[in-house]
Parts: sequence; structure tokens; C-alpha cells
Amino acid sequence: MKQQWITLLGATGSIGCNTLEVLDLHRDRYRVFALSAHRNVNRLAEQCLRFSPRFAVVPGEREAECLRGLLGQSERAETTEILIGPEALCHVAAHPEVQTVMAAIVGAAGLPSTLAAARAGKRILLANKEALVMSGGLMMDAVHRCGATLLPVDSEHNAIFQSLPHHHREQGLARVGVNRIILTASGGPFLKTPLDQLLQVTPDEACRHPNWVMGRKISVDSATMMNKGLELIEACWLFNANPDQVDILIHPESIIHSLVAYVDGSLIAQLGCPDMRIPIAHALAFPERLVSGAPALDLARVAQLNFQSLDLERFPVIRLAYGAMRAGGTAPAVLNAANEVAVAAFLEHRLPFRDIPRLIESVLEQSAQSAVHTLEQVMAADEEARRLALHLMRRELS
Ligand SMILES: NC(=O)c1ccc[n+]([C@@H]2O[C@H](COP(=O)([O-])OP(=O)(O)OC[C@H]3O[C@@H](n4cnc5c(N)ncnc54)[C@H](OP(=O)(O)O)[C@@H]3O)[C@@H](O)[C@H]2O)c1
Repeated sequence: MKQQWITLLGATGSIGCNTLEVLDLHRDRYRVFALSAHRNVNRLAEQCLRFSPRFAVVPGEREAECLRGLLGQSERAETTEILIGPEALCHVAAHPEVQTVMAAIVGAAGLPSTLAAARAGKRILLANKEALVMSGGLMMDAVHRCGATLLPVDSEHNAIFQSLPHHHREQGLARVGVNRIILTASGGPFLKTPLDQLLQVTPDEACRHPNWVMGRKISVDSATMMNKGLELIEACWLFNANPDQVDILIHPESIIHSLVAYVDGSLIAQLGCPDMRIPIAHALAFPERLVSGAPALDLARVAQLNFQSLDLERFPVIRLAYGAMRAGGTAPAVLNAANEVAVAAFLEHRLPFRDIPRLIESVLEQSAQSAVHTLEQVMAADEEARRLALHLMRRELS
């Protein structure tokens, strides 16, 4: 079997590490072309020694020096060339020898390299939802024009993808009999916390997700439910749906990863343990199936599945996400940027949890929004929204 070369952007994160676990089971099929890290050079060095990539990408000379030192003693260091900076991320994402790119950088920082992979016609395994939320039509247009394939790794979108007929993209949801898409949401750690106690919650409490072990940014997004808001926008672009066709359903156990409702009354869902190796293995091998290393789901042991409708008073960011998707243009990029600033401030104890939605709403209200035709326009909207969010936060604090 011819081995596929794969670039892993964000290799040191939760998705990156899970991806390497799956790849480790299938070394006959996949070879690691490039790995990237931002701060965690120690983990990147371990990964380089284990997978001998052609390239390792780090943000600056300091990290490169440190990585060189860590790899220095090993013979395998010879096989890995160290590259620096955001351009290098685009280089390894678009390299002609690479077939598959795992886009697993967190946040807006992943957009240029994911778009570079799309423009180079790669098979993209998309975990970095913020990239698609920000760039929307620009990304989808690049995917179609350049012959790329976008396969969702987010467990919800992967479940929807698995529950749709393969020809849904060409024919559209209506023609394949789809009535609605239903995104499931665990509700996060504060599903039952009294609303007046949300003022005092700490970053560690917000990051203690009941079902998933994830990076800190997405964990806070799950606690506010902005993660579901971003996923709503992601679903609209991936499945060519309008926001009114997408519902959100609370399902605290995270066993049903999402559903598709058909016009005949059928609901088709994908079920599995909450383990990201499952959607990663699915996206890697599609349309084949691979052993993922995840445990099989024992439904008798689960015994009971629960559902409830979404409480918009508890999770006001959902309303903001629907609004941004309906507004279109740069609005989703503004929503995303304001959220990234708010979450970073909350994680650094500079903003109370309850103020995250308020800050995002103020930024959306006060931003000038426009249509999107270029990456530069998206990045300018992102930058402006970040500036405004920081300004509003400083004004609140003074
Ligand atoms: N974790 C999950 O279960 C899950 C599920 C669905 C979707 N996702 C999505 O997948 C993406 C990654 O999530 P995660 O949980 O894996 O996050 P994470 O654990 O925080 O990892 C993020 C990765 O991105 C790198 N990174 C951070 N800032 C960067 C920057 N400015 N430039 C370049 N690289 C940067 C990090 O490097 P260092 O660690 O070296 O600093 C790390 O490799 C997010 O978009 C998230 O929404 C995650």
C-alpha cells in the first residue's frame, strides 16, 4: 500500500495528540510529513523522535533553538528540518508531497494555513472550526475551486456527515430529503449551576468538562456554549444549510454525537463513546474504516440517554451566533475574535465568566461589518474586533 504523507498543524494539542495515537496504529498507511507546535516544544521534540517528520514548525528562533537542543543527541534529529513562523505553517500545509492536512491549531491562528491547504487542493481534516467560522464562503469557495476535500473532525459534524447520504453536497439538503440538522450539546459543566453562581466560577471549574478532555479554549467555549454557536456556523458552511435548518439539543451524556431529521420522520444519528479518536479515524480513512483505538460503546452499560431543550437565558451566546450567521459577511469573524479575547481574559482571571457574552454582544453591536472577498478582509475584521474587545474591557475595568 502506498503511504500517505500527512501534515499535522497543532500536533501538540489535544486533537494533535489523539491524531498521532491513531496514526501510530497505522504506520503502514500514513507517514508524518510535518508537525507544528506553538509553546510546547518538549512535547514536539518527543513527537519528532517518535514519528521522524520531515519538518517541525515552531513560531520563533527561541523555540527552534530549544527544539534543536532537545533533538541534538538523537540520530533521528537528522531527518527533521526545523522551520519557523506562520509562513512555514502554510508551506507544510500546501507542500506538493502532502496529501492530507490535519488542521488542529486552536483559534484564528489556524486560518491562513488551513486556507493554504484548501488552495493547494489537499484533503483537510478540519478540527480548527474557528478557521471556517471566520472565513466561511471564502474557505468553501477555495475548497471547491481547488479540488480540496473538507472532512469534519468535530464530533458533531462528523456525526452529521456520517448520517447524510454521500451525494448531499452536490444535490443540496432538500433534494436528499433532509428536514433539519440537530446538533447535540452536553451543556458543559454549568448545565445545572444556579445562574447567580455563574459570576464566581473559576477557569479550572469551566475547563472541567463532564465528558471530554480538551484544550482550555474549547473547554471554556463548551461552558459558555459558544462552542455550539461556532459549530452552528460551521454546520451551515459544511452542509450548505441555513441557520434556521439547524437545531441544538441538550444531551448531557455525549453519546449521540448529532442527528439528521429527514422529511419522512426518520432520524439518523451516529453514536459512540466520547473519544475524539473515533471522528479522527473516520476522517482519516473516509470512505474506508480504520481501527481508532477507542473503546466500543456498551449501550447496556450506558442504560439511559437524556435530552432537554436549550435554555437561551443560561446560554445567551447561542443567540449571538445565530445572529452573526444570519448577518453574514464579517459578522462571524467578529463574533469569533471577540470570543477569543473574552476567553483569554477569563482564563487569565481578567474577566468574570458571566461577562463573556456581554463583551461579545457589545463588540458585535459596535463593529462595522462588511462583505468578505479576501483573507485580508477577514484578518482586518478579526484585528479590529480584538482591538475593540480589549478597549471595551479596559473601559469596564477603569
Ligand atoms: N479537543 C477536542 O476534543 C476538540 C474537539 C472538536 C474540535 N476541536 C477543535 O480543534 C482545535 C484544537 O483544539 P484542541 O483542544 O486540540 O486545542 P489545544 O489542546 O489547546 O491545542 C491547540 C494546538 O494549537 C497550537 N497553537 C496554539 N496557538 C497557536 C498559534 N498562535 N499558532 C500556531 N499554533 C498554535 C498549540 O500549540 P502548543 O500546545 O505547542 O502551544 C496546540 O498544538 C480547536 O479549534 C478546537 O475547537 C477540539
